[in-house]
Order: sequence, then structure tokens, then C-alpha cells
Amino acid sequence: MNSRIPMLEALRVHLQTNPLPLHVPGHKMGRGFPMDAAPWLGQALRLDLTELPGLDDLHQPSGAIREAQELAAETFGSEETYFLVGGSTAGNMAMILTACRPGESIIIPRNAHKSVHNAIVLAGARPTYLYPEVDRQFGIPTEITVQEVRRALEENPDAQAVMLTSPTYQGICSDIAAIAAEVHGRGKLLLVDEAHGAHFSFHEKLPVSAIRLGADLVVQSTHKMLGSLTGSAMLHGKHGRYDGERLRTMLGMVQTSSPSYLMLLSLDAVRHEMATRGRGLLDEALEALDVGRNEVNKLSGLTLYEGKNITSGVDPFKWWIQVEGLGLNGFDAEELLRARKGIFFEMADEAHLLAVFSYADTQKQVNRLVEGLRFLAETRADHLASGAGKRNRPVFPQPHFRLEQAALPKDALHGLRRRVKLEVATGQVAAEPVIPYPPGIPLILPGERYTSELVEYLQGMKQIGARFQGTVDPTVEYVRVLE
Ligand SMILES: Cc1ncc(COP(=O)(O)O)c(C=O)c1O
Repeated sequence: MNSRIPMLEALRVHLQTNPLPLHVPGHKMGRGFPMDAAPWLGQALRLDLTELPGLDDLHQPSGAIREAQELAAETFGSEETYFLVGGSTAGNMAMILTACRPGESIIIPRNAHKSVHNAIVLAGARPTYLYPEVDRQFGIPTEITVQEVRRALEENPDAQAVMLTSPTYQGICSDIAAIAAEVHGRGKLLLVDEAHGAHFSFHEKLPVSAIRLGADLVVQSTHKMLGSLTGSAMLHGKHGRYDGERLRTMLGMVQTSSPSYLMLLSLDAVRHEMATRGRGLLDEALEALDVGRNEVNKLSGLTLYEGKNITSGVDPFKWWIQVEGLGLNGFDAEELLRARKGIFFEMADEAHLLAVFSYADTQKQVNRLVEGLRFLAETRADHLASGAGKRNRPVFPQPHFRLEQAALPKDALHGLRRRVKLEVATGQVAAEPVIPYPPGIPLILPGERYTSELVEYLQGMKQIGARFQGTVDPTVEYVRVLE
């Protein structure tokens, strides 16, 4: 059964009818597509179609899309799978809108992706937060422990669901099986943002996917760590604890009524590719990464994150590379490797680079990065002499300020706001988050009330040169608060 690609079959059959397209999209199977760009898209434009007889309907599938989703469910280990054309962003929104009615409570990671925080606003839900562990040496949030989930559940017996991000951006997993047992033991739903883990089902050396470990709903950005088109993703469901009808309603609300058939085809084709050849491809890439890691470990001044204390798995396809030992900060290292070696990273911060590999990478690509890092290491003496690596390290561990939630995030978004100087923010209700980066864990979120301890702490962070995200004013001289 896995040898079929129903979306491709349906599109092929359609083309064989020599169709006259008296329907949208207006480029009419490529004829009218802008001339300068058309050669880049080539044949693909003939497949950029819409819901036509024989091509099924994403929102009420009964043909090729339904079959493709069923094959995906079988392959990824779920009971039902929904194709998404709005990324994991749409999946996170649909999951949270399904789990929470206005005013209801949900437990989410404090450092969740912005789509999760936005979904809380849309749902009018009341969030309470899980605090991840922090790796002080590497400056990143890591796993969320079972004990932390238990604490949050005990403090919030009314919560409808617990949501986790696993793996994190840096590839660090939480103990989903143990957390699922804890969450289900109290009759709640477990939702997992597995945006960065779509490849987990295809190799035994990778962490196990959350859908196989007991989560109820799991979203995956198939476009991130597998090879579907950008913006395409999947939502997997299992165990029937959630309201499926409500989920389909919410998916219909957050997704376009004109889904891209190129995206849908890519999801189906990637499922097929991984089911038939995925293990071999991953195996080759994993071997190349092992060789590369050994080489990097021989370079002095560079350290690769290994996740030694993490028991639930770390994704070997993510390399979190600490460069400060070279006397360079991450931004300078990124710029050097981009300008001199044509290497583009997923991200950089004061002390690190994040390289993301996938099953599409072989020894050739891994070696190119290793060579680039060797070049960095060889020019180390110059960096050290220039003092370029001097930076202000944030102070870890970052304290958790348990703040009063004076307004729902929804009300904080819609309420009138004004800017005030940080030093007079005590007692005011935040209208925007303040997120020191690293480690990217918000100190205050919309709807929470500033305390004098928090204001003092933020002033200290500013003095040591910390960077912030989330605020309109990046220097955090001013913050937005509710009128
Ligand atoms: C943890 C996490 N969740 C969700 C998303 C959103 O995914 P998408 O870009 O597929 O909408 C991202 C994107 O970076 C992410 O890092």
C-alpha cells in the first residue's frame, strides 16, 4: 500500500484529460505565470491546481487527499493525520482551539513558539506555564521534566490540556512517555509541538516520535526536517481523547480555503519517499554526521552540544556549536563563514551557531561545514588578539518570577496600550512579552503584572548588555503596558 502516491496519481489523471481550466488560479496552469519567474517553476505550474472533480477537497476529503492522509497516518504511527498548508503554526492553533474554550486553562511551556502564544490569544484561554531546564554552559532551554509537569497539574487542576515542545529548536526531547502517563492519569490531553521532529519515525537512532509515546495530538513541520515544500505540515491524532469534530472545525477556521496542491503533493510524496527509502537516506546522513562530529571534536576552541544530561534523546541532525572558545562571538562567526565560505546557518547567537542537517545531506555537505569550522579554528589567534569575542554572558540560571496574571492574553492584546519607562513599570500589566535572548524564556508575558523585583532584574540584565525579543523597543528602555 505504501508504494502509492495518491496525490500524484490524481494530478496525473487530471493532466491526461487535456483540461481547459475555466477556474482559478488565474495563471491557468502556468500559461499566464510571470515570464521572468516561470522558468524557475517549470512543470510544477501545471500542477498548481485547485479543488476540482477528481482532485478532492482538503476540508472534506473523500478521494486522493483522504487516501494520502490515511497512508500518512499508517506511516507516522497515528490513527488519523491531517495535511496542513499553514505550517505547524496552523496545527498549533487548531490543537489549542480544540482543547480550550474561552476562559479555560491550559498548561504550556513558557518558551513555546509564538504560534502557541498566539493560539492562546485566539482561544481566549488562560495559560499557566511550564519552566524548562536550562543548560548553563550552552545557554539554551532544554527539557521539561515530569516533576515540572506534575507541579503545574497540581497547581492547575482545571487545566484542559498540557502542551510541550519536543524536540526544541536545538533538538532536545522531553520524556513524553512519562509525561503522557502523568497527564492522562488526570484525564487531560497531551498536545505536542513536534515541529522539528518529523523525521523521528524513520530511524532507530533518532528519538521516538511523540505520537508513538502516548501524545494525543502532535504537529510536525514536515517541511523542516523532512523534504516537503515550505509551509506544509501534518497534524497527527491518536487515542480518541480529543473531540475530532471540533478539531476539523478549527482546522477549517485557521486554514485557507485555497490549499496549494503543490504542498499537498509534496506531503504525500515525502511520506512515500520516507516509507520506502527513508531509513537508508537517514542512515547515510547519520554516518556522515558521526564522522563530521569526530572531526569537529578535534578542533580546539569549538564545542558541540552533546546533551549529556538529557535522557530522552537529542536529535543528531542539529549541531549547536559553541564558538566563544575561539575568541569569536556567534554573529561574527556566522558572518565570516557566510562571506568567506558561502555557509548559511539556521541561526546564530552571542556564542553559538545552529547548523541543521537533514536526510538530504551527505558527507560532502558535512565536510564543507567541517572545513569551514577548521578555517575558523585556524584563524583563532587573530580573533583572540582582536578581542572580537568579548561579550556579556547572560546570568544563568534566569530566575522564574511567578507573576500575577491580571488579564487574559486575549484582553492584553485587545486592550488599549501605552508605553512607559521600564523603571516605572512596577504594578502595570504587560501588553507585550519581554524575552531575554538567550535563553529565549519570557520573563513576562502579556496579561502579567510587573513587580519591582522583575523591573530591577531587567535593569540589571540591560546593564550587562543582554538582548531582548518581543518588545517594540529592543533596548527595553520603554515597555508596552495596558492603559
Ligand atoms: C517549535 C516550533 N513550533 C512551531 C513552529 C512553526 O512552524 P511553521 O513554520 O511550520 O509554521 C516553529 C517554527 O520555527 C517552531 O520552531
